[in-house]
Amino acid sequence: MKRFRRLRRDERIRSLMQETRLCRADLLYPLFVIEGENIKNPVASMPGVFQYSIDCLDEVLVRVSRSRIGGVLLFGIPAVKDETASQAYAEDGVTQRAVSYIREKYPEIYVVVDVCLCEYMSHGHCGLVRGETVLNDETLPLLAKMAVSLVRAGADMVAPSDMMDGRVAAIRKALDDAGFSQTPVMAYSAKFASAYYGPFRDAAHSAPGFGDRKSYQMDYANGQEALREIEADMEEGADIVMVKPALAYLDVLKEASAQFRIPFAVYNVSGEYAMVKAAAQNGWLDEKKIVTENLTAMKRAGAKIIITYHALDVAEWLHGDREAGRM
Ligand code: PBG
Ligand code: ZN
Repeated sequence: MKRFRRLRRDERIRSLMQETRLCRADLLYPLFVIEGENIKNPVASMPGVFQYSIDCLDEVLVRVSRSRIGGVLLFGIPAVKDETASQAYAEDGVTQRAVSYIREKYPEIYVVVDVCLCEYMSHGHCGLVRGETVLNDETLPLLAKMAVSLVRAGADMVAPSDMMDGRVAAIRKALDDAGFSQTPVMAYSAKFASAYYGPFRDAAHSAPGFGDRKSYQMDYANGQEALREIEADMEEGADIVMVKPALAYLDVLKEASAQFRIPFAVYNVSGEYAMVKAAAQNGWLDEKKIVTENLTAMKRAGAKIIITYHALDVAEWLHGDREAGRM
């Protein structure tokens, strides 16, 4: 008889056998920065998540810094939105100012910035719009401009999330031409048109004003197409590729990470966070256990980087467990 239970007898041997272990360094924490002053707005559908104005950022940045997580993923919410997303690439845009602030005051924090136009567009779509059509090629120069302006402000990495074709190449070329050949691009390569983004769109004020995002984000029925998207982004020069959302897409992550030799990121998105929080607040699930299980599954499926709103909590739990000798 195979006696698998020999290696499960007590915590010591189980720990020795553990194949996948979360670490704080794996985690990126999404951060919403809103134009204005003295703002710390709770996001109703995401308990524990806030929009901060730049002058109120210190509280969370100190936590990020102490937590020793991998870094932050920044989203900006401008006061003015228009049809060309001009605040997305304005030198003094709220996101650019937030990046410079963090860069100056917290040089130890690794700053990744989400590159997408939807938060800056009056219509809420991720690209330029003509009639009801979201334009692809016309959008690329704006994304490239946004990426360069953010790196100029001090961003360590850019993460295009718009799902326009050819944007990784456009951004890579623009960064190289501007002298930023050392700045990596983390591409949201297999980003599905998902109902799991609902809470995020409240947090980032980025819900599309008409229609949906299905003409650019992927159909969640398609796994093979996800592999083609990832392959294309690799060819265009992506340094890291992403699968998003996480939990309902671990099959995609698993297959892609087995197939391609490149670091993978996965985004544990707002709706996934909201579901866990709601159940935990009702006492229906143990938050710490469920989050640890979920994130471990993401790493087991092949993620090197996990982007999660739970990052700061997880860092504290891991630290506590280590202090208590439980890991
Ligand atoms: C911007 C963007 C979105 C998310 C990350 N970048 C929203 C969207 O595509 O509608 C979703 C993140 C989350 O739900 O936590 N394009
Ligand atoms: Zn977008």
